[in-house]
Amino acid sequence: TAAVCNAFRGSILHFLANPGEAGADHSYQFIPDGLMVVENGRVLALGGYAELHPTLPAGTQLTDYSGRMILPGFIDTHIHYSQTDVIASPGKQLLDWLEHYTFPAEGRFDDMNHATEVAGFFLDELLRNGTTTALVFGTTHRQSLDAFFAVAGQRALRMVAGKVLMDRNCPEFLRDTPDSAYADSAALIERWHGQGRLGYAITPRFAVTSSDAQLAQVGELARNYPEVHIHTHLAENMDEVAWVTRLFPWSRSYLDVYDHYGLLRERAVYAHCIHLDEDDRQRMVDSGATAAFCPTSNLFLGSGLFDLAGALDSGMRVGVATDVGGGTSFSMLRTLGESYKVAQLRGYTLSPLQAFYLATLGNAKALGLDDNIGNLAPGKEADFIVLDPESTPLMARRMRSATTLIERLFIFMTLGDDRAVAATYILGELVHTRACLPSAENL
Ligand code: GUN
Ligand code: ZN
Repeated sequence: TAAVCNAFRGSILHFLANPGEAGADHSYQFIPDGLMVVENGRVLALGGYAELHPTLPAGTQLTDYSGRMILPGFIDTHIHYSQTDVIASPGKQLLDWLEHYTFPAEGRFDDMNHATEVAGFFLDELLRNGTTTALVFGTTHRQSLDAFFAVAGQRALRMVAGKVLMDRNCPEFLRDTPDSAYADSAALIERWHGQGRLGYAITPRFAVTSSDAQLAQVGELARNYPEVHIHTHLAENMDEVAWVTRLFPWSRSYLDVYDHYGLLRERAVYAHCIHLDEDDRQRMVDSGATAAFCPTSNLFLGSGLFDLAGALDSGMRVGVATDVGGGTSFSMLRTLGESYKVAQLRGYTLSPLQAFYLATLGNAKALGLDDNIGNLAPGKEADFIVLDPESTPLMARRMRSATTLIERLFIFMTLGDDRAVAATYILGELVHTRACLPSAENL
């Protein structure tokens, strides 16, 4: 018997290339009255409704999202699931905030039940916000990752996560050792990496909390497991940068510490990258590492203004990310809106096309996952969302005076949040929907 097809009607937007490289007009495909056909969890065909509709086999289930916009699911390139309950905790800046809120909260993740409950809520919240893939920090505890991967795996999500490695300058109850960092990471990689759509990231917290001996073990892990991600923080806060200088007096720069231990490469994601010099930037570009720009966090913690224009111009891989719980929202729409404002303060105007590219295909490329996700090209995994331009009275009103796609995208990223996400699909299956239900019909 033939597999059952699902088809989705709506306006469809996805990206094919970086607007900054291909030129705006060649970077995306927009189908005002489009149809996407999904089979076995993957996109089978994409086109105009009028052309594709007659070709659908009998039995196809058609879901009509006319008037709404279908996009690939958002990707978040840096977030801490263990900080779900830390969001909206006022601190001074990074180091104070870590000590007073973050470390105590992370201490609870030695409890598997707690970790499982938080993982479930966290993943629900991502899906409510239209985020279908994320690169995720756990805690020092091995069981925090066993819990996270188990829950994400049950839901068949494409998620990348890792156990935090830290053996100094943090509370005793969060410390591991150089040897246990290696052994626990290796065990987690063997158990979870490549299981379904799960991936592993070697996750030293930041240079401040790892000894030289531990960073040497982290480098060894990276050499022995070249296929996994590396995920850490870099040059976020001035006090942090000064501390790294004191801890590693031999280093040329903060980035140089990670470089020294062999941690700069493709699929290595460095959150923040605010305080870099020219040599650092060039090393990022040459190594193929990714900088994750986290605007709501950088503003909330007073960390500084990321040089987005400089990063994009240099050819550095750049992702955008929420960094919850330093970040203040799970919403990538909110995050794009704040990205625009941070860029404004640096004299650069972020175009809506560049913004939506970053949140989808750009972030997929930044994570090296664009073979499977990032756009809706036939063959890609059918993780997608439906945006409702009438999600609030104000948005509906403002959308009525918008005449172009660019204007509509700008309104989505400036006024939108989880309320704008009408539905979220994972591998073609509905996993989240808001009150406005789609109409379904059998052909
Ligand atoms: N640097 C080291 N740890 C953290 C963290 O948990 N959040 C942020 N934003 N920066 C960090
Ligand atoms: Zn972070």
